[in-house]
Amino acid sequence: MRIIVAHGADESIDGPKGRRKTDVQEVADVLRKAGHEVSGLAVDGTPECLRALAQAQADLVFNLVESFGDDDTKEPHVAAYYDLLGLRYTGSGARGLTLAMDKALAKKIFSFHGLATPRWAVVWRGRLDSAHDIDFPVIVKPAREDGSIGIGFDALVGSIKELMERIDQLHSEFDDPVLIEQYIEGREIYMGVLGNHQAQALPAVELDLSHLPKGTPRIAGSEVKWAEGTRAYRGTKVLVPKLPDDVQETMHRAALTAFHALSLRDYARVDFRLTRDGKVYLIEANPNPYLSSGAEYIKGARASGRTYGQTILEIVELARARYAATPAAH
Ligand SMILES: Nc1ncnc2c1ncn2[C@@H]1O[C@H](COP(=O)(O)OP(=O)(O)O)[C@@H](O)[C@H]1O
Ligand SMILES: [Mg+2]
Repeated sequence: MRIIVAHGADESIDGPKGRRKTDVQEVADVLRKAGHEVSGLAVDGTPECLRALAQAQADLVFNLVESFGDDDTKEPHVAAYYDLLGLRYTGSGARGLTLAMDKALAKKIFSFHGLATPRWAVVWRGRLDSAHDIDFPVIVKPAREDGSIGIGFDALVGSIKELMERIDQLHSEFDDPVLIEQYIEGREIYMGVLGNHQAQALPAVELDLSHLPKGTPRIAGSEVKWAEGTRAYRGTKVLVPKLPDDVQETMHRAALTAFHALSLRDYARVDFRLTRDGKVYLIEANPNPYLSSGAEYIKGARASGRTYGQTILEIVELARARYAATPAAH
């Protein structure tokens, strides 16, 4: 197949020799090795990239785009543009991306399907959308951001004063409603999903936060995800945990239900908190999760017996089969 690997600004399918490969390069390598004709395209927010996409000749786009320009809330728009152009692409469509990225809306959908998600309230510039009865401590986060943007260690709030300050701060930084969520003390467990009609849940992986420096909240905030070189970053490990059967079963069911309820496609990662007494809470569902060979999603795929290359090619095959089944419907 002719496959375009679509990626963000300042990325490329070929990197300098000797440097650690990015997810974009790793995916492109797998596709090339499998005999596909691969090219890269930076969807960087410019009119030129829109023109390049409009002229693109490809059987499939491997979509690794997570923003348009600097605006990561426009990730669904990029998928919608592929749809308008009739381009076929891997991963979730505009609808799935939009539903999953609106955390408050996604939680309402989870509740409808009977999935346990932490109780919450949503406020938007002083107006209340909805509110459960919640106790401190709470997590206060932007309702429509991703990658722990806006979720530092200060997201964990224990008093009215901190809550007010934090809401005020988020309103000034983001043009987004603010989600106030019951803090769930517990282990951080992720479960991958792979497939469509016959989607499977992959074995659970755990982001072990127990080695974070003393006094820091046990959350995978921006420091843990991005602050390379810090103790918070180095102190977290991804492992494959042994979980009781009933917990695994609850997570499997919840991961698949969430995947279908949000119209996700091909692959996704669903994130949970597991309390000491074995209760499972769904925190969020991530369409198009990070696909580097060291990513949590890939760890789960490996635990299911797949290699990195097999997983990437399976995503390609899932996308291809999806379009082949319904040629007109994207
Ligand atoms: N209700 C919660 N209880 C406990 N921890 C939470 C809760 N919400 C978020 N967190 C922590 O914050 C991290 C980031 O929150 P999340 O909603 O997944 O944002 P993002 O979309 O930026 O990944 C989670 O991985 C988890 O460690
Ligand atoms: Mg998350």
